[in-house]
Amino acid sequence: MNQLLRHLLFLPDQASTFAPMSDRLHYAIFLAGIVVGGLSFGAGLFWMIRYRDRGEPTTPRIVGGPKIEAVIVGVPLAIFLIWFLIGYHDFLYATTPPADAMDVYVTGKQWMWKFTYPQGPSSIGTLRVPLGKPVRLLITSRDVVHSFYVPDFRVKQDAVPGRYTQLWFQATELGPHPIECAEYCGLSHSTMDGSVEVMDPSDYQRWLATQQVGLAERADGTPPRAPPGARLSLLGQQVAQKRGCLKCHSVDGSAHIGPTWLDLYGRHETLTTGQKVVADDAYLTQSMMDPLAKVVRGFDPVMPSFQGQLTPEDTAALLEYIRSLRTDRLGQTPSKEPAYVPRP
Ligand code: CUA
Repeated sequence: MNQLLRHLLFLPDQASTFAPMSDRLHYAIFLAGIVVGGLSFGAGLFWMIRYRDRGEPTTPRIVGGPKIEAVIVGVPLAIFLIWFLIGYHDFLYATTPPADAMDVYVTGKQWMWKFTYPQGPSSIGTLRVPLGKPVRLLITSRDVVHSFYVPDFRVKQDAVPGRYTQLWFQATELGPHPIECAEYCGLSHSTMDGSVEVMDPSDYQRWLATQQVGLAERADGTPPRAPPGARLSLLGQQVAQKRGCLKCHSVDGSAHIGPTWLDLYGRHETLTTGQKVVADDAYLTQSMMDPLAKVVRGFDPVMPSFQGQLTPEDTAALLEYIRSLRTDRLGQTPSKEPAYVPRP
């Protein structure tokens, strides 16, 4: 039934755990539309013929009762509420990456997709992931708004400059799955594509190990800044030193001009407005680009914006560096319970 409907609707393969869920709702809405549309049209046609003008006296006026009103309102309402329940359930699934998800940083630019792995390697156009493993993508753009779209996975997320958005999937089928840009972004928007190469987990590990580990060349063709073998967090440490981050942020737990970076990732913070936030990728990125938007209580709003100064690679590297700074690695108890499971 699933495959029949999928072919009838010309839908692509279902290659992720989310794809059948998305399609199930698609079918439910589509079939309900056909049934309700068919019934309405059939009833209209029937009455048009049944009560055609036969030169007889006019039909008496019929007034509806509360029972029929209740049915007419109740049945469509129930259908909509069922869609809502399925949709809400699926929405929660689609927007909550599992804690053990593997992270990959994604950068959209006119007109290509670039992928950077926390272990260091990066690639353009091809995203390699292991089969059956949840993957979380942290997506940004270095110029205009793009949209990262994998039709076979039924997942799509905007790529916004100066911000990280996230998306997750768990692939269930090997092989290449096309990536497309789903936001008109300029002249070559239609050619801004790529593919997700879903690999057998052991093949993936082998690929990762044999990679010339380093960061891809920069857009202007200059060689990578990090030596081969460097993890992204090491590059982040260099960026932090070069950009002067460490003049205000300590990495040993002591408060300075800004909050310490030790155990910061995943920490619950209270803002000057009393609002509570979790220091996740989105919050940390926003704090680099628009630092005065959400200031942590107890600190002065003095941080300058790094919008346009940090490349997406720099930002990803800083996030990995902050994420690596944890007291429990030093055999001590973390000062506060993190909301996320830190990377091992
Ligand atoms: Cu990028 Cu359209």
